[in-house]
Amino acid sequence: MSESILGMKRTDMCGTLRESDIGKEVTLMGWCHKARDLGGLTFITLRDRSGEVQIVITPESPEDIKQKASKIRSEFVLAVQGKVERRSAPNEKMPTGMIEVTVSDLRIISESETPPFYIEDDNTANEALRLKYRYLDLRRPVMQNNMMLRHRIAKSARDYFDEKGFLEIETPMLGKSTPEGARDYLVPSRVKNGSFFALPQSPQLYKQLLMLAGYDRYMQIARCFRDEDLRADRQPEFTQMDLEMSFVDCDDVMEVTEGFVARVFKDVLNIDIDLPIRRIPWQEAMERYGSDKPDLRFGMELQDISDWASGIDFVVFKNALDEKGLVKAVVIPGGAAFSRKEIDALGEVCKTYKAKGMAWVVPSEQPRGSFLKFLKPEDISALASEVGAGADDLICIVADNFKVVHDSLGQLRIAAANKLGLIRKDDFKLCWVTEFPMFEWSDEEGRYMAMHHPFTCPMDEDLDHLESDQGKVRSKAYDIVLNGCELGGGSIRIHDRDLQMRIFKLLGFTAESAQEQFGFLLDAFKYGVPPHGGLAIGLDRFVMLLTGAGSIREVIAFPKVQNSSDLMTDAPSPVAEKQLEELGIEVSAGTSSEDDDNDNLVMD
Ligand code: AMO
Repeated sequence: MSESILGMKRTDMCGTLRESDIGKEVTLMGWCHKARDLGGLTFITLRDRSGEVQIVITPESPEDIKQKASKIRSEFVLAVQGKVERRSAPNEKMPTGMIEVTVSDLRIISESETPPFYIEDDNTANEALRLKYRYLDLRRPVMQNNMMLRHRIAKSARDYFDEKGFLEIETPMLGKSTPEGARDYLVPSRVKNGSFFALPQSPQLYKQLLMLAGYDRYMQIARCFRDEDLRADRQPEFTQMDLEMSFVDCDDVMEVTEGFVARVFKDVLNIDIDLPIRRIPWQEAMERYGSDKPDLRFGMELQDISDWASGIDFVVFKNALDEKGLVKAVVIPGGAAFSRKEIDALGEVCKTYKAKGMAWVVPSEQPRGSFLKFLKPEDISALASEVGAGADDLICIVADNFKVVHDSLGQLRIAAANKLGLIRKDDFKLCWVTEFPMFEWSDEEGRYMAMHHPFTCPMDEDLDHLESDQGKVRSKAYDIVLNGCELGGGSIRIHDRDLQMRIFKLLGFTAESAQEQFGFLLDAFKYGVPPHGGLAIGLDRFVMLLTGAGSIREVIAFPKVQNSSDLMTDAPSPVAEKQLEELGIEVSAGTSSEDDDNDNLVMD
């Protein structure tokens, strides 16, 4: 095929040439990264997916080649024939830096306008501009490496699960809405006006049906769609490494998942991770780290100081304890050096998570703190010795209910670790969080909701108090957490129709409404269901964490921005009146975000 490109056939990739190639005649094709004309001597850095190499046009080169070379600008596409030679001034920083290619023939295949930003790794262009010209941004080596690493993870996944007997089976994109908690993206039907498909939030119900259908072990690299508020680790359209297994319990799914995660670390980063991965029950994760996705790269655990606080005559503590709340502390090592402004900023973090405030003490010889007038010297020394704080440390305290205390101090813990530079992106700490509560109280709805999804199986030990003490029921759900980020989650499913109906009832479904929403699943459950369970790993998040990228947008070729739009194609965009007519849709004058400032759309 490539012979037709101006009669030349590519022999090598730019970034692969080494000293061992010296003397070889090569034909390369790629983009001009930079062209430098030193008066008769022209240096061109030629770039393709594999890297860059230096091309030289010397004063001895034929006149027509020198002519062409003088026209070359950045991002022109070139074909070059020449000989690999040793470089007189090697460049240690370039993998091809020992050699260069002296040109014998040169073709300009395609010209380029001056791009809106430099195609360089340390690109300082704002993200909105990079996303508008994503095809140029994707030329940057760092982005190409991210895409290659993503490919390698997907390949590892397919190889690993194939070896373990999993079948990759595709499930529909146009389906019925499944209750995963986010808003659905809807697709109107032309044939059945007024009816809608939903794009899958995950293949959850289909993979359960595949188990029922006897496929035993399923996997899929599945696209999922959720219309929810975006963050650095969330996109409306993302990819799951999804799996489901029959005749298994939690340990089986967790073991297979651990093998997969270990395989990816080995294949991609050549890192051996210790197996089995530590398991932390949800209650313990909340109590020690204030989070169901604890970051284990640093300490600063939450400590319960309710006993100590009950002896202090401070109304904030008293109120919290009277209302069955608790008082907890985080000790920030070296935090005594923080300025008042810095301490206040930590207090603001707590307030974001609904704490009314944050009390603090520095237990030095001349103690400092926000509530010293309520403390006797012996109170301070008792506190310091209880939490293990020294004179250089800062003790941060929140008194409130379980949720507020843990949410706010959990976030304060992370903010403080970031501030102290304790978080390293190349340090990988994994854990499982297990024994999640089955139900979560929703103030908004005034009822219990499923914490995972309504098909999650309760723990056998807790089945008896399902109706009597809903808040205490734990589920056979597990999340795998990497560096404080929820990498994946799953559960053992209910395979008993009666138990499923009991759970639906507790979640507020009537027999009719359950039948209406999940009728096909309930009907299927009449025909022999194997015990089954599974899990889904967020592929985008996995790539983000392994590459050290700051957001999942950096590891998705064409991501969306904050308002879920695509700055490159301008999607979503209005459609022709005729299309709407066919779909039986009339658009009312809604709110439009056309005035959104693009620069704000990429902030997390
Ligand atoms: P869950 O909803 O926990 O479980 O999703 C599994 C994993 O998918 C990733 N993820 C996301 N990644 C990017 N953007 C998003 N908006 C987004 N939402 C989720 C996360 C998450 O851990 N069907 C169940 C799995 C199961 O029970 O088998 C499910 O989808 O990494």
